[in-house]
Amino acid sequence: MFTKTPPMGWNSWNTFADKISEDLILETADAMIERGLKDAGYEYIVIDDCWSLRERDENGDIVTDPVKFPHGMKYLADKIHEKGLKFGMYSCAGVKTCAGFPSSYHNEFRDAKLFASFGIDFLKYDFCNVPQGANGPLLYHTMSLALKESGRDILFSACNWGADHVETWIRSCGAGMYRSTGDIMDKYNSFRDIALSQKDKYAYAGIGCFNDTDMLIVGMKNKGNVALGGCTDTEYKTHFAVWCFCASPLMMGCDLRNVDETSLALMKNKGLLRINQDVECRTPFICGDNGKNGLCWFRHLSDNEYALMFVNYGDKNAEITLDLDKIGLWDGCGHGLKIKDVFTGKTETVSRTKTKRVDAHDCAVYVCKTVEL
Ligand code: GAL
Repeated sequence: MFTKTPPMGWNSWNTFADKISEDLILETADAMIERGLKDAGYEYIVIDDCWSLRERDENGDIVTDPVKFPHGMKYLADKIHEKGLKFGMYSCAGVKTCAGFPSSYHNEFRDAKLFASFGIDFLKYDFCNVPQGANGPLLYHTMSLALKESGRDILFSACNWGADHVETWIRSCGAGMYRSTGDIMDKYNSFRDIALSQKDKYAYAGIGCFNDTDMLIVGMKNKGNVALGGCTDTEYKTHFAVWCFCASPLMMGCDLRNVDETSLALMKNKGLLRINQDVECRTPFICGDNGKNGLCWFRHLSDNEYALMFVNYGDKNAEITLDLDKIGLWDGCGHGLKIKDVFTGKTETVSRTKTKRVDAHDCAVYVCKTVEL
């Protein structure tokens, strides 16, 4: 499926892992609607690993676990479509998924047909248990061709964790998004390290294929499968802001049925989503660095607007400076920036430099326009 802006939705893995069921998926779809997340743009409900039985049937097809999903996947897909949402599933390029379930190596065309018969709109394709000597990139090409032949328009979400210089070839195989990093955990250092590791990779993201820096941990509050201490509200705010700023797909990972109001408001923040979903999909660049992991980022948006972010990945409060010279507004050019805080709505004009005091692990994000001084 051709995707013009970063896909948005929910995935079962971060919180639930193998504890998935028809009830959970339908309740999550309802929560997505009732909590205003569908209206905010989230649309995919994706079941990750652990949805099938351990063996294929006598025809060679993967069998949906009848205890977890008593009415089967077609029923679930139909229900999700009736709610106006899209349905995603998971397989893997190896002989077994990461959790040891049947996987699509040398069964790509058969499995793609089965997934299409269920009515899926999205396939996440993992990279565990690939036979030695197999060509990783070609395995993604094969499944992409199989999905295209399957008769449904399916978004191909590759997940090889950044291996094989994936950013250089994944677009050529037809994927709509691809994991550019290892797995995220629900703790500050995990998303900070992912974010810092991606600084030079953002130019590979763009219309049609987006760098997936992994599912969101916002609102997990140290509960569920990838819990590793949890994050503060400030840290979730920075995580979400950075994922938005850098055009990552936004796949929520918390329990939407019980998500707290602060996390919910954050994931619906209009200014941040406007940046994430900008139709021009331009690359953010660093325009300030305090040498202690305090960075200032700038990004061109559509409609002659811009996005500006101060982010302090350091463990102490710090000052980070934006110098307009660094975005091309040279001293004496007669122009500055009018900036609007996406969290408070407060506006101000920057005529030369702006030094922002940012708490440890916090950020500030603005949508801007140039102004004549
Ligand atoms: C990992 C993948 C995770 C999740 C998990 C399922 O390889 O990165 O996002 O899908 O497998 O077993």
